[in-house]
Amino acid sequence: MANPTSSMPTTQLPGNSAQLVSPSALSALLGGTGSLPSGGTALTLRRTRLVRTDADGNTAEYIFDQPIVKLGAMDDNDVVLDDDQASRYHARIYQEGDDFLIEDLKSTNGTWVNRVRVRDAWLRSGAMIRVGNTQLRFSVQAERVDIAPSQHESLGGIVGRTEAIRRLMGVVDRIAPTGATVVLEGETGTGKEVVARTIHQLSKRAAGPFIVFDCGAVQQNLIESELFGHEKGSFTGALASRQGLFEMANGGTIFLDEIGELALDLQPKLLRALEQREVRRVGGNRPIKIDVRVIAATNRDLAEEVKADRFREDLFYRLGVVRLKLPALRERQDDIGLLGQHMLRTGSFNRVGDGQKVKGISYEAREALRAYQWPGNVRELLNVIERACSFCEGDLIGVDDLPDHISGAKVVRMRRSNTHPTEQVRQGGSSLGNTVPLLTDISFKSAKEQWLGAFEKEYLAKLLSRHSGNLSQAAREADVDRKHFRRLARKYGLIGGGVEEEDEE
Ligand SMILES: Nc1ncnc2c1ncn2[C@@H]1O[C@H](COP(=O)(O)OP(=O)(O)OP(=O)(O)O)[C@@H](O)[C@H]1O
Ligand SMILES: [Mg+2]
Repeated sequence: MANPTSSMPTTQLPGNSAQLVSPSALSALLGGTGSLPSGGTALTLRRTRLVRTDADGNTAEYIFDQPIVKLGAMDDNDVVLDDDQASRYHARIYQEGDDFLIEDLKSTNGTWVNRVRVRDAWLRSGAMIRVGNTQLRFSVQAERVDIAPSQHESLGGIVGRTEAIRRLMGVVDRIAPTGATVVLEGETGTGKEVVARTIHQLSKRAAGPFIVFDCGAVQQNLIESELFGHEKGSFTGALASRQGLFEMANGGTIFLDEIGELALDLQPKLLRALEQREVRRVGGNRPIKIDVRVIAATNRDLAEEVKADRFREDLFYRLGVVRLKLPALRERQDDIGLLGQHMLRTGSFNRVGDGQKVKGISYEAREALRAYQWPGNVRELLNVIERACSFCEGDLIGVDDLPDHISGAKVVRMRRSNTHPTEQVRQGGSSLGNTVPLLTDISFKSAKEQWLGAFEKEYLAKLLSRHSGNLSQAAREADVDRKHFRRLARKYGLIGGGVEEEDEE
């Protein structure tokens, strides 16, 4: 039971203390309008404030951080109504997007907002709510909190020193102790699971379980029973009753990976579990109370999924109390050296006795690593470092210990297109590795020139063919000056004079 303070000043009530963070303020997190000039990040924390007046005229104030506030006569409500006109579970107040609503839970005597009986209603600050004989004045407390980038180079499992990652660490540090539901967005290998684990470790639930469920890896028809459990005999093969992952995560955190893969028909069931804080097993009627923090991850843009009707808007809002976008590794090249060192220090692949086999990364190798575009992000970096360790014979990883596509990355980068690297892979990538032998019996300079020449020719040819020989379009896509593009295309015999004339704007 929550104990109201009998009068001011403002007191935060115990219990689940999720911070309500405005999704609109957060969608711009880590860059954009959410950023402060000082490099910090602004979050708007929104709280529900209720001032209660009972039949005898006594007042009490409640302030809640959590997304749902339950009102009723039973002890497990957030506002316990000692009122014989109130139903056991009378009503609840919840947030949808930036708005607050009240819903009557089929109470006997009804829920009233500004003297109108309602089944559900939007709440404005200042609204008077009546449940039974109890009056509650509703208002929203919005508090702008400026979060400075972390001063440290690591937080839990997160390592990095660039501004992008220190801002992320600042926000993670701030929101971890709250119960806020978090959605992590980012490309594959950017560290979504690392961040989720860090949030759990820094939360009040750290001693509880951390359960991972990958919505993309389990057959859709089994997901419901995996998440919510099932009763014996509820479907063919259900030989015994089984707890679902939500029950197993009780008191801890459930990490729903690849949430964008969750089928549309399962989404309302997840929404219900989040809103009601209870689950029902497949084939069972009994609601089971759960106390679980949800962190979800996706490498899709969930807002886009909502627009395309592949993800429910209500679930999007319920999950996305805090949305964090993880930067791609190519956006934080200055972290590559630090991450590499961290991997050499902690990787079991580099351990000999009590020490490290390989001590560091040479300057040239580091430059090559920085120049590469890392479509697989930190996971790919880890694989490359591990592989390089197995080749490395000295103390430092050299450029020769790196795979060819990375040791040559510096050259590629000089002329790369703006196309996203994963897109390049999807489009078939480069065939250079197959067509240009890497000559080591000539000087480095000559070998590099030959490789560069082959790269330029192939690159220009592909782009010209994609744009049906339209030089202006091809040059624009390559982000190269049109004249320069034409000169190169001529040099490699890809165009004659005619194309140029046709294409002149
Ligand atoms: N900031 C970081 N600091 C240290 N290690 C990291 C960081 N980010 C990622 N890693 C490491 O990179 C690897 C991939 O991270 P993780 O599994 O968290 O990525 P992910 O975003 O969940 O990827 P996917 O979308 O493919 O599931 C892990 O080995 C993790 O330890
Ligand atoms: Mg993952």
